[in-house]
Amino acid sequence: MQTVTNLCRKVGFIREIKRMSLNSVHTKTRTGFVDGGKYSQGRPSYTEEAVSYIANLLIDGKLSGPGKGNVSYDVVELGAGTGKFTEKIITKLPQDIKYLATEPMDGFLGTLKDLCPSVDTKQCTANNIPLPENSVRNVIAAQCFHWFASVESLSEISRVLVPGGRFVMIWNNKDWSVPWVKDFEVILSNYYTSDTPRAINRTWKTVIENFPGFLCKEHTFKTGIDFQGNKDFVVSHFCTISVIASLPDDEKEAVRQKMYKILDSHEETREKDIIKIPFETEIYHSVKA
Ligand SMILES: C[S@@+](CC[C@H](N)C(=O)[O-])C[C@H]1O[C@@H](n2cnc3c(N)ncnc32)[C@H](O)[C@@H]1O
Repeated sequence: MQTVTNLCRKVGFIREIKRMSLNSVHTKTRTGFVDGGKYSQGRPSYTEEAVSYIANLLIDGKLSGPGKGNVSYDVVELGAGTGKFTEKIITKLPQDIKYLATEPMDGFLGTLKDLCPSVDTKQCTANNIPLPENSVRNVIAAQCFHWFASVESLSEISRVLVPGGRFVMIWNNKDWSVPWVKDFEVILSNYYTSDTPRAINRTWKTVIENFPGFLCKEHTFKTGIDFQGNKDFVVSHFCTISVIASLPDDEKEAVRQKMYKILDSHEETREKDIIKIPFETEIYHSVKA
């Protein structure tokens, strides 16, 4: 009886820790990154060039640094979402590499586990990584560092990294200067508040560059992913953006209709069966100082 009571207490305690930890994620993460299926269908993958570039950095990182003894993982991915980056990068890494994909949101973690069944996963935020200090060779963050760019998360990433360990970030950025994309931005801007993190304003860069624990090794831009489809495809993609994904159904439908109107109003998109969403790849590579 005593054992059952203790077990229930332990389960309750773990749930409370999880709740407290999830409270540290932004509201738009909690409401906008819920449906793993829709996100996974609507978001682009990553280019071969960018994935190979990062894989080579990680392989180099695996071979350097302290011996295997203290290392719990060669790579820890933060905010792995539904596994869009994970599924690509693991095909380019040696089979014996120890890879951990982490994600705070239940709905995304479920899709990640289905998509990458051979990868270790853990539910956690970047502020609270359940691993010992100096035990990870590389940390990566795909399309997500802007969500947790803070002194708290950088201190936590630095804590788990081995001395000289790498922290690598990648983004697929849309080209917001293209006229029809610019019009989509006007719609989106109605839903962004001043505290909603966005990759394009690069606040994340100021945060990491003011943090003494990391040194920038390279900040580079590469050809973007080829991501194209019909008008439904384009609208579905924009509806995976957290501020839209988190809207109630009727409001989301109104936004969808406005998006179709934009596509019908531009010469480059009006008569097109296939529309290319313009992307550029951004990679930021830093090391623990
Ligand atoms: C735009 S999605 C990117 C997902 C995935 N990495 C990809 O490439 O598609 C942003 C991800 O960051 C995660 N995220 C948001 N806040 C976080 C935090 N504080 N710690 C860790 N992950 C976080 C979200 O749950 C979501 O999965």
